[in-house]
Amino acid sequence: MQGAAHPEAATRRDTVRIALTKGRLEKKTLSLLKAAGYDISELEAGSRKLIFALPDTGVEIVLAKAADVITYVEHGVCDMGVVGKDTIMEKGGSFYEMVDLGFGKCRFALATKKGKDVYGGYKTPVIATKYPAVTKAFFNKKNMDVETIKIEGSVELAPLLELADAIVDIVETGTTLKENGLEVIEDVAPISARVIVNLASAKMKKAAIQQVISDLESGLEG
Ligand code: PRP
Repeated sequence: MQGAAHPEAATRRDTVRIALTKGRLEKKTLSLLKAAGYDISELEAGSRKLIFALPDTGVEIVLAKAADVITYVEHGVCDMGVVGKDTIMEKGGSFYEMVDLGFGKCRFALATKKGKDVYGGYKTPVIATKYPAVTKAFFNKKNMDVETIKIEGSVELAPLLELADAIVDIVETGTTLKENGLEVIEDVAPISARVIVNLASAKMKKAAIQQVISDLESGLEG
């Protein structure tokens, strides 16, 4: 046993600990839990706290960055997580992806400057992205060789500054592309919020985890 960094760590706690991706996915998940009768008042009160026990439920909420949600669930220090498919596709890992919650909808797309022929040149196309693994997998499937350049934010700048021939990025409304004279060439993959579950927890805490999932789902239907 390697302490907390072992997947079985999850089974040494009685609580069901849920890691939520801070921001919109957190807010939507909490509103579903509230609708299902969970007392989330401490979270609503607004603070810099990161771990919250929901009264009389045996459920704990942990607030984390998307990639860290996966890390905590993988290592079993959280039993479940709510995270975007974008992060799951980029980071991967060992966990069950149990439910598509259907919110946080957007997509990965390949985009470039209006009218530009990305595949037309003699050179290997250069693709700027925050998601190099997603980008490489997409072009591997096409049997195409591309060079990827990792950008940390506002990836749309890269083709405008002529650093890259195109980008692979998240498109939600399409406004950012439009306002910068870019357009989608091809959709890469749909994205939405997913429930992920630690491998050991899924067996050892099956009933409690299923309860939380059906509580979340009942709010989605309503
Ligand atoms: C994301 C994404 C696009 C934008 C797309 O960026 O990288 O830039 O949203 O949304 P739209 O299609 O509705 O315009 P985000 O705002 O998360 O920040 P970032 O640029 O720092 O990545």
